[in-house]
Amino acid sequence: MRRQVRHSPRLEGSVAPPGDKSISHRSAVFNAIANGSATVLNYSPGGDCASTVRCLRALGAQITSGKNDPTTLTIQGTGGKLKEPDQVLNCGNSGTTMRLMSGVLAAQPFLSILTGDDSLRSRPMERILTPLRLMGATVQGRDNGKLAPLVFHGGNLHGIDYHMPVASAQLKSSIMLAALFADGPTTVHEPFHSRDHTEQMFSAMGVQVQKHGRSVTVQPSTLHAADIRVPGDISSAAFWLVAAAAHPNARLRITGVGLNPTRTGVLDVLRSMGARIRVSDGPAQGGEPTGEIVVESSELRATELIAGEMIPIVQDEIPVLAVAACFAHGTTIIRDAEELRVKESDRIRTTVRELTRMGARIEELPDGMAIHGPTPLHAANCRTYSDHRLVMALAVAGLLADGETVIDGAEHADISYPGFWTALEQLTGGGANL
Ligand code: S3P
Repeated sequence: MRRQVRHSPRLEGSVAPPGDKSISHRSAVFNAIANGSATVLNYSPGGDCASTVRCLRALGAQITSGKNDPTTLTIQGTGGKLKEPDQVLNCGNSGTTMRLMSGVLAAQPFLSILTGDDSLRSRPMERILTPLRLMGATVQGRDNGKLAPLVFHGGNLHGIDYHMPVASAQLKSSIMLAALFADGPTTVHEPFHSRDHTEQMFSAMGVQVQKHGRSVTVQPSTLHAADIRVPGDISSAAFWLVAAAAHPNARLRITGVGLNPTRTGVLDVLRSMGARIRVSDGPAQGGEPTGEIVVESSELRATELIAGEMIPIVQDEIPVLAVAACFAHGTTIIRDAEELRVKESDRIRTTVRELTRMGARIEELPDGMAIHGPTPLHAANCRTYSDHRLVMALAVAGLLADGETVIDGAEHADISYPGFWTALEQLTGGGANL
């Protein structure tokens, strides 16, 4: 589906982003293997989180969604005893589904196969298989264990002490899930901190989790089901943060947003660029801090903060931060972000290619990009490589550019943010959405 976006004279209003994708996946998987039953509110309505529910149901978990409200789930825990699925499990576009489910399936005494769409079947899985094998799992993958489909024939697992080669919350969580079923404690060491939703939710569900610096130890345990209200997704809020900060006439209020410090790098980066952002703290939800953010038109300057330990906590927001950098004075350098090359698309290459089409002065680096600004963007026909975050980042670019930008594959926004296009229409008074 194609959408046209054009500059709108004013951007204003209030928007509540959908439930956080990372927390939603975890709320479903963890409650499905827990003892007891739980209700999840504000579950992400996106395609990725629907993939997780589909896989869990195929494994025997009873999950019902509200009659007129797909964001409310009731989950009957299985106590960790799933059933052999009679079909291949399809994770769609969702790397989190595949990697979290791998940790669970590694410990189940039956055959299961995980697959996904073209993008997911080209993403690296060896990083998951290596530690799971060290724990004693029987698991195979295409291309000598590098790629999905993945085949599990779980067995008895033992605890390991493992140094992760990359800072990845999906990898950490996969090992932590398998660790629940092991015969002794497991410790994972991360090169940098990645998002810690698994640690938070495990603790809330009765698991002994010990953190020392960048190491986490998990004791084998059974999870206890826990009701949770999922906070709004800061990665979805990021599109509005950049849109308003870079727009000449904007003021947006973003409500009910998760503010876990391992996710708020986008606020730090935008503030370092001079963005006028005010955060008011709200109530904690499911052990996660939340709040409201007000963002206004700002005079932006370049940043070099997007590097090193900042990368794992800002990586999903880099495509839209690259858009912000086009409007900032000076050269923004993004470094150490090679992981972006193995996301839903090669986000270094695709972001550079499409923003170049719109007139950006942007160079691809092996591990990032350099963006020279301010450079006015002009309309273009953009490709989006079936990548939800690129769709929305380019829509924001189109909103800030001259002329009518055409976004192909606009429907892929639904992977994480089904209400994105409607919100764009509302916040621009219908001005941007053709
Ligand atoms: C996620 C972790 C991140 C992020 C992804 C969701 C998660 O990937 O990019 O969108 O829910 O654990 P990493 O595994 O590279 O940290």
